Parts: sequence; structure tokens; C-alpha cells
Amino acid sequence: MCGIVGFLGTCPALEIIVQALKGLEYRGYDSSGVALIEHGRLLRHRAVGTLDQLMKVLPETTKSTLGIGHTRWATHGAPEERNAHPQVSHGIAVVHNGIIENFSELKAQLLKQGYAFESETDTEVVAHFIHQHYSKSKNVEEVFSKVLKELEGSFALAIILEDHPNHIFIARKGISPLAIGRSAKGISLCSDTLSLVGIADELSYIEDGVWGDLSLEGIKIFDENQISQSIEFVPHPLGKDSLGRGEFSHYMLKEMYEQPDIVLKEGTQTLDIPKELSKALHITLIGCGSAFYAAWGGKYYLEQLANRIVTLELASEFHYRNPVVQDGVTIAVSQSGETADTLKAIQYMEQHGQYTVGMVNVPHSSISRQVHYEILTKAGPEIGVASTKAFTAQLLCLLKISMNLMQDSVRKQKILKGLKQLPLDMQKIFFKVSQLQDIAQHLVHSKGIIFLGRGMSYPVALEGALKMSELSYIPGQGFAAGELKHGPLALVDACTPVVVLAPMDQFFEKTVSNIYEVCAREGKVFVITDNAGAEQLAGVPVQDIFVYPSPTTWELHPFLSVLTLQLIAYYTALHKGCSIDQPRNLAKAVTVE
Ligand code: F6R
Repeated sequence: MCGIVGFLGTCPALEIIVQALKGLEYRGYDSSGVALIEHGRLLRHRAVGTLDQLMKVLPETTKSTLGIGHTRWATHGAPEERNAHPQVSHGIAVVHNGIIENFSELKAQLLKQGYAFESETDTEVVAHFIHQHYSKSKNVEEVFSKVLKELEGSFALAIILEDHPNHIFIARKGISPLAIGRSAKGISLCSDTLSLVGIADELSYIEDGVWGDLSLEGIKIFDENQISQSIEFVPHPLGKDSLGRGEFSHYMLKEMYEQPDIVLKEGTQTLDIPKELSKALHITLIGCGSAFYAAWGGKYYLEQLANRIVTLELASEFHYRNPVVQDGVTIAVSQSGETADTLKAIQYMEQHGQYTVGMVNVPHSSISRQVHYEILTKAGPEIGVASTKAFTAQLLCLLKISMNLMQDSVRKQKILKGLKQLPLDMQKIFFKVSQLQDIAQHLVHSKGIIFLGRGMSYPVALEGALKMSELSYIPGQGFAAGELKHGPLALVDACTPVVVLAPMDQFFEKTVSNIYEVCAREGKVFVITDNAGAEQLAGVPVQDIFVYPSPTTWELHPFLSVLTLQLIAYYTALHKGCSIDQPRNLAKAVTVE
């Protein structure tokens, strides 16, 4: 998604803006740009591609102490320089994250008034809109009140004006995140607080429906009726050394290797849950992408361990259906805490009387601030676009919630015992990574890969298929193994590898039947199983079997099988030479619907 940053202070701004833009790199983007004010003049630099391309067009030195920056993930208009931000109108520069929904209507009015458009972006409309009103009144208060009242959609904006060379103006409406940072060097702003690690010591999260005037004289925040708003700062939750990929070649690899530690640290820690959740008979789980699949795993835990009625909802579909909702509790699962679809679903649930719990990895995120109760997954910053350790941490939190709610203390003790052993068993998968590299070598030339699982292994199979698709661009399709005969079997031939999750659980025998069905059609089967499963599979004519240590109980298989699938997807993408940490077209935090 697009990211915005800005800085004003007592030192050159460009270096800090570039540092902040680098902090946004992980989110994925196709172009970037900066605008500075130097000696009262607005200067703009933009480039398509990576930040290295932008660096080539930036001045080596500049005395400017104020500027804004942007990384763009194309929505309106192709990734071309003319569509990159900042967008400019007569000495006014704008960077924007979000979508202006009434931009066509506003553009038509501006065209009538003689404004010429260089880009296809909705942001250029904002720049001309601001100029149109500013040139009449020269009154920024009036202009920003109009910005909030007349621009529809969801946006976070940072604006600089040649007429106000010592100020940055900001505005936020809807679900686009925005924060201000503070340090001895000056005032910064960003749409993603990771980008201000090492730049800001303190952060203030800007609420929906306000605009602000930032200068060294102070930070002033107003609502659309010019009522002054209070502003509070909290320490930045992350230090400089929380980022970086150390000796690992990719963030994703580092993040996969961090998973045993997360389970070690958090697995047996008690998790506080609100009384509303303890008492709820009916729980709705909501998320998108990998977070949705983790929620799916959570559904199985909550149903089977805690005896709750659980509804699973894909956030990106949910509120558009206007579903009938009764009182109850919603758990929204999100790594970033910024996913627009998930945020909208939470708002819908709250409007319909539900108590909401946000299970997020980023403290102070928009979802954290929206929900009634926050549960932190504590996986640490996840930089690789493809979620790995956050998925595992989400699953762990959902298991722990279910354990909090379960009555059977003997079973609970068994899971707890298993959780103590689990980190070591996860480590053992890394010892056998060369076998996963070989499997990846087999998969790399496939046109498509099928992933099968039953029970808890079904959402894991779906997650494995998603990981494969997004990292290697080889279409991965996940199916419930029991559905094979209802259609997907038609896909099976000698060229379509089938990865089957066959842990020794209550579904094992049935999954083995599915393996035979695929083998009988010349399908190449790669089985992921545990020691106990492997013993039973001796002699079955599969291509390869990857064996991980048997956990003490079925609830823990997903932690081992998902790590295996993540590694297979990683090595397949590596063999293909794909961009691992920033797969094409994807963004880390999806802040538009
Ligand atoms: C896939 C992936 C995405 C996210 C999804 C939700 O690897 O990372 O599918 O899981 O975009 O993001 P969050 O969890 O930030 O709400």
C-alpha cells in the first residue's frame, strides 16, 4: 500500500525522509518521491521502481529542513513517474495514502475551472482542490475544514505549501492510519510507525476526522469545525535494533527461524482474556488472507477444546453482505492491525452490539485502538510481506484462548506439556532443510500445485497454497482432502504435484485413502507427516515423505506442518529467483478496501 512520511526540524530533512522511506520498503511499492521546501521554493523528485531509482535523482545535499515523502502502490493510474507522489498544484505538494471516492466528480469540477491534470491519480485532485480553495481565502483553517468535509473516502494526507515554508499540514479521514513522531531533531509523521524506528522517540496516533498544523512552534490538531483537539504522545514501542535481518538472506527466512522462540517464550505464558469472551457461547472469528486461515485453525480449537459455537468470516466479504448479527463476541485477527477490510468488519460488529477483541501484532495499530480489548500476538515486527511467524503466533494465541476456556484439565495439561516440547520439535525441521530444498526443486517447474489436508490440516493446506502462490507465483490450490472426489481430482495428472498433510490424527486413515486416489491417477504426492504417520505410510508409492517429530497431541500438528510448508514455498521461490520479501504486486499492510 502507499506509505507517507514527513519531517521538519533543525537538521537536513532529506536524509531523515529517505531513512523513513526505507522503513516503508517492506510494505511493497512501485514508485516513490519526495518534496522539500528550500529557500521558500518547493522542490520535487520522483522515480518509478525501487528506492535506489529515487536515490539516483535526489540531490546529494540540501539545506532543506522540511519535506514529505511517499511510496506508491498503484490504485488510480499505472506505476509511472507522472502518477508518483508528491502530486503538485501551484506551490502545493501532497502525499496521500487511501482512496478519494468522489475524485471523478471533483476532477470534473476542477477541469471546468481550468485545472490541467498530469496524472491519473486521485491525489492530484486533492492538490488542485487545496489550491482552488487556498487561492481564494489564503486561510488554511478553512481549506482543511473543506478537505475533511468535502473529500469522501478514506485518506491520510501530508501537505506542504510554499506560502507556509515552516509547516507541514496533515489530515486523516476514515481508516487510513497516521501518526506523528517527536524527537530532539524534530517532528516527523508517517502512515506506518515502523518507518519512524530510530527517527522518533515518541509517537502520537492521529484519530479519524482531524487535520493538523505541524511546525517547530508546536503541533496543533483540529476537527473539521476548527475545535482544537488534545494530543498525547507515547514512547515508540520499537528500538533501532528491533529491525534488520542479521545474517539471514531474507527477512522471511529470519522470521521463519524465529518461530520456535516465539512458541518458547509465549507458549506457556498465561493469556489474559476479557470476561465478555470467557462468558461468550458464540464467537465470530474474522480476518483476511493468512490471518483468516489462522482464525480458521482457531475455529477448530474453540469448537473442539472450548465447546463454543464459532462462526468464521472473511473480513473482505463480511460487511458488504449486511449480515444479521446478534450479541456476541468477535475476535478480529490481524498481523498489521491496519487491514482496512478487517477494520470495517470490526466497526460493523460494534455497530451491531458485539464486543470486539483485536488479536494484533502491532501495538497501537488502528485495530488495537478500535476494539474493546486487545490481545498482542508478540511475534515481533514482521517485515517479509508473506506472513510466517505472525501466523504461528496467531494460532498460538487462539489455542491459548481455547485452553483458557476449556473444562478438561487433563487434556489441558497434555497440551501444555506438548507446548513445552514444541519449540525443539520445530527446530528439528530446520535440521532437515536440505530435504525441503529437494522437494522445492521438484516443484519449481510445476504449472500448479495442489495442497490437501483434513481437520486442522485443512486451513494449514490453504495457508501452504497461499504461501506458494504469493512467493513463487506458481498457483497453489488448497482443498479439504475429503473434497478431492467432488471435483479437484480432475486436476490430478503426472505433471501436477500434490502436497498432502497427513499427520497421525483422527483423520489419518481417510487422508491415506486420498493419497492412494492421487497415486492411482499418476499424481506425484509429497507427504508431510510426523514419525507416527510415516511408519504407517511405509510402502505407499509417493514421491517423497517429509517427517517431523510427532507432537504430544493433535492440536500441535499445525505448528510443525505450517513451518514445513513455509520453508517449501520459500525454497521454491528461491529456486525460481523470485523477490522473496516483496513479492510482486503485494503490500504488507492492506490499508484500502
Ligand atoms: C499472506 C499475507 C496476507 C495477510 C493479509 C492480512 O502471506 O500476509 O494474506 O495475512 O493481508 O493482513 P493482516 O494480518 O495484517 O490483517
